[in-house]
Amino acid sequence: MTADQQTIKEKIKKLQKEKDVVILAHYYVDGEVQEIADFVGDSYFLAQKAVDTPQRNILFCGVSFMGESAKILNPDKKVIMVDEYADCPMAHMVDIRRIHEIRQQYEDVAVVCYVNSTAEIKAESDVCVTSSNAIRVVKALPNRHIFFIPDNNLGRYVAEQIPEKDFIFHDGFCHVHTSISAEQIKEAKKLHPEALVLSHPECTSDVLKLSDFIGSTSEIIDYASNSGQDKFIICTEMGIFYELQQKNPQKKFYSVGHRQFCPNMKKITLEKVERALASMSPEVIVGQELAGRANTALAKMLELAK
Ligand code: 13P
Ligand code: SF4
Repeated sequence: MTADQQTIKEKIKKLQKEKDVVILAHYYVDGEVQEIADFVGDSYFLAQKAVDTPQRNILFCGVSFMGESAKILNPDKKVIMVDEYADCPMAHMVDIRRIHEIRQQYEDVAVVCYVNSTAEIKAESDVCVTSSNAIRVVKALPNRHIFFIPDNNLGRYVAEQIPEKDFIFHDGFCHVHTSISAEQIKEAKKLHPEALVLSHPECTSDVLKLSDFIGSTSEIIDYASNSGQDKFIICTEMGIFYELQQKNPQKKFYSVGHRQFCPNMKKITLEKVERALASMSPEVIVGQELAGRANTALAKMLELAK
């Protein structure tokens, strides 16, 4: 660690205490940012933490939909982002008109939105899911028809585990996870034949077919940490390597290409964390009426995923 980094970290800790802020970070932000966070986790864990923590203010080291969800779940807390332009493109890949069309076509449909979606989309949905609770939540719904938005790959993965329901899919995707190809995995397997392949369900189905384990970021970390194996090929965003290596210094983790990199998550830097804390901005603002409607889908997720 450089002297500059050490100074910034000290300033962050001081500001955080003074201003009563809890710092939440996703596993895809850089390791040095994960290091200063109070809690690091997958999207589900972070949504729960946003509700559980006593601090009056939350600083979110992640992309817009994460901060927005924290605000919707905690209208009385102040939620600050590190970079207001750190956004997930997938969150914008479905529009409200499409939801209305499907609702007209299928009377009994449940609109299930991945947490990687905007507040407007959550407000039009019946329930929200994350990659770690999607199967549990969808199984618990009484509806036979499920309109799964926006991620096509996660939707198809969930549908495979719940054959008794009829899914309608959308065409959203994550450019980071879909950049990982089956060919790259085969190449990585040639180099490391004994390594297990651990993948996020936002990957395409041909990648998932070659995987030994499929799960959210936290689930991938838990699987690798509890496994008796010591070599793993990791098919998700590279930020996860920090925690994998921290928890398992003796194990080896391999990437499969050069594009396992989310440019939006990488907008989060220590310098910007310090700036956001000093100015207590940019603040996440969600209108009361919209937040109320979006909260229904998020609160239902928290209840069904218990
Ligand atoms: P999880 O951490 O919930 O697995 O989510 C992955 C993701 O893409 C967040 O942007
Ligand atoms: Fe969105 Fe993919 Fe980046 Fe996650 S990794 S924030 S899904 S673009």
